[in-house]
Amino acid sequence: MKLSVIGGGSWGLALAKVLHDSQHQVLVYDVSEKIVSKINDLHICFQLNEDIPKEIKATSSIEEAVSFSDVLLFVVPTKVMREAISSMMPFLTNKKLFINAAKGIEPETFMRASEIFTEMVPKEYFKGFVSLSGPSHAEEVIRGMMTLITASSENEKDALFVQELFHNTEYFRVYSSTDLKGSELGGALKNIFALASGLLAGKGLGDNARAALITRGLVEMHKFYEVYGADTKSITGLTGLGDLIVTCTSEHSRNFQAGYKLGHGKDLEETLASMTMVVEGIRTCEAAHSYGQEHDIDMPIINSIYEIIFEKKNPEEVFKKLLERSMKPE
Ligand SMILES: NC(=O)c1ccc[n+]([C@@H]2O[C@H](COP(=O)([O-])OP(=O)(O)OC[C@H]3O[C@@H](n4cnc5c(N)ncnc54)[C@H](O)[C@@H]3O)[C@@H](O)[C@H]2O)c1
Repeated sequence: MKLSVIGGGSWGLALAKVLHDSQHQVLVYDVSEKIVSKINDLHICFQLNEDIPKEIKATSSIEEAVSFSDVLLFVVPTKVMREAISSMMPFLTNKKLFINAAKGIEPETFMRASEIFTEMVPKEYFKGFVSLSGPSHAEEVIRGMMTLITASSENEKDALFVQELFHNTEYFRVYSSTDLKGSELGGALKNIFALASGLLAGKGLGDNARAALITRGLVEMHKFYEVYGADTKSITGLTGLGDLIVTCTSEHSRNFQAGYKLGHGKDLEETLASMTMVVEGIRTCEAAHSYGQEHDIDMPIINSIYEIIFEKKNPEEVFKKLLERSMKPE
């Protein structure tokens, strides 16, 4: 079948290749002319410097992308999600199924992607929404390395449809879930812990600290899910623990890399300027911190990362403060 991918960055093109490998016809839209010409003329993913099949075509026309298919896969950073949705709006003429593969939360509103789509897209053009999430670095998927992810939707039929669309028996196994809330929350929150994991590594701390971070990070995620009303069962699934492990332990993680640079003494502006790809954890940390304050959630790790990034506190002092908290049972 035909599919449009909105956002031709690393993850957009890795997923475009998965779809192409399952014999689907893919058209990629990107705002950057440079990205579009790298796809059409050189058949490469610019951000990853990886070859992609020449049958994957790109366009600079959002109108062409919207009319190409009734299934639109969004893979743009959450910071520009509203902009990308607005740009497609004038060209909607019928109902579309929206799939989102970006991971983040809007700091100003604490809205998840599904809520942003539901708010912005008029009902007559909205067929459904599915979130694709799980431990999946574009660097590995684009090379056809084994990956397992989850397609989540409140409408089971839509989740099953997307599961079938992306699933292949060579390297890409897709599960389905109806816990959309949990899936979107897990994909967003794990990026904060990836920043923390990079920070620890940047400060020369070792595997013990990282394992403790992942374990206690999971506890914070659990508290968050409970207050937020998400299904805590999915915390131990691919969209929770799975994504948390991969992002806290892999050099491919942009959030880990950003944390590592912060740990080496670079400030936030310098760190972001040196990154060519999106670092979602920073905005998500801001969002989660203010949500936690508002709802009185005890989240020492998230609050510590917030203090280091946004209040420019010294990481050593923040770590010390964490260790000095009163003793308690696990
Ligand atoms: N890279 C990964 O391994 C990976 C894996 C899973 C999820 N994600 C998530 O996917 C999202 C995108 O990440 P990425 O790594 O592909 O980022 P990226 O920086 O590699 O690419 C983003 C692309 O979006 C394009 N873009 C920006 N504004 C746009 C607009 N208004 N319309 C269309 N295109 C626009 C940019 O030109 C760029 O090509 C993030 O939320 C990220 O957390 C990434």
